[in-house]
Amino acid sequence: MARRKKLYEGKAKILYEGTEPGTIVQYFKDDATAFNAEKKDVIDGKGVLNNRLSEFFMKGLTQLGIPNHFIKRLNMREQLVRAAEIVPLEIIVRNVAAGSMAKRLGMEEGTPLPRPIVEFSYKDDSLGDPLVPEEYIAAFGWASQQEMDEIVSMALRVNDYLSGVMYGVGIKLVDFKIEMGRVYEGDFPRLIVADEISPDSCRLWDIETGQKLDKDVFRRDLGNLTDAYTEVARRLGVMPSNVTHTPTKPTLIN
Ligand SMILES: Nc1ncnc2c1ncn2[C@@H]1O[C@H](COP(=O)(O)OP(=O)(O)O)[C@@H](O)[C@H]1O
Ligand SMILES: [Mg+2]
Repeated sequence: MARRKKLYEGKAKILYEGTEPGTIVQYFKDDATAFNAEKKDVIDGKGVLNNRLSEFFMKGLTQLGIPNHFIKRLNMREQLVRAAEIVPLEIIVRNVAAGSMAKRLGMEEGTPLPRPIVEFSYKDDSLGDPLVPEEYIAAFGWASQQEMDEIVSMALRVNDYLSGVMYGVGIKLVDFKIEMGRVYEGDFPRLIVADEISPDSCRLWDIETGQKLDKDVFRRDLGNLTDAYTEVARRLGVMPSNVTHTPTKPTLIN
């Protein structure tokens, strides 16, 4: 394969220069991290599953007219996306109290929220992605007030879509995180959903049993992460035929 320019290596993905101007190749790694990378491991097959699942969800958003960066899947671990100027926020939507919210407010995990709540954290690993009020976002110019209105309404639409899709396969969407970016048409910026939508960035609980099918399996040592993600993929009918996660060393997939 011709050498490509690596643009960025993050915790879960590598970005390469895309084939066309304005495009990027996202390579999904098997690396799993939690608690701001204090806990790390390599989970065989995770990247393949997340590449497929993110493709599935982004295509669903496209069908509903929710703009996003997905262009096409290139292979088992890579997808071509539109390059965007990432808004430095993690946009979190919650339907049920869990994780940091449950902890912060002393709520029992699993308590349904009166309505979906959108919150923002400032994307900065060295600070541990701190929760920020909207006031900061406008004041520091991370996004304009008009963009914030659009971010909130898009995030809620994504929530309706994802909740529905998950509900249809017996999974409760507890919360999720997305990133958004700007693409320019001339001088005019437009917001699109970027990064990934996968069990790495959602909390997914089986409706019947409450079993966790997301990255909490890794964070909290609840079992085999690949099995959990494979179950989500299987229920959604997103089952790559050649995903294997044998305990022996896998063959290199490029
Ligand atoms: N369409 C896009 N254009 C530009 N950057 C993107 C796009 N989608 C995602 N990114 C960025 O690519 C990186 C993805 O790699 P990841 O391993 O998730 O990084 P991190 O460790 O920063 O979370 C993130 O920093 C994300 O903001
Ligand atoms: Mg990331």
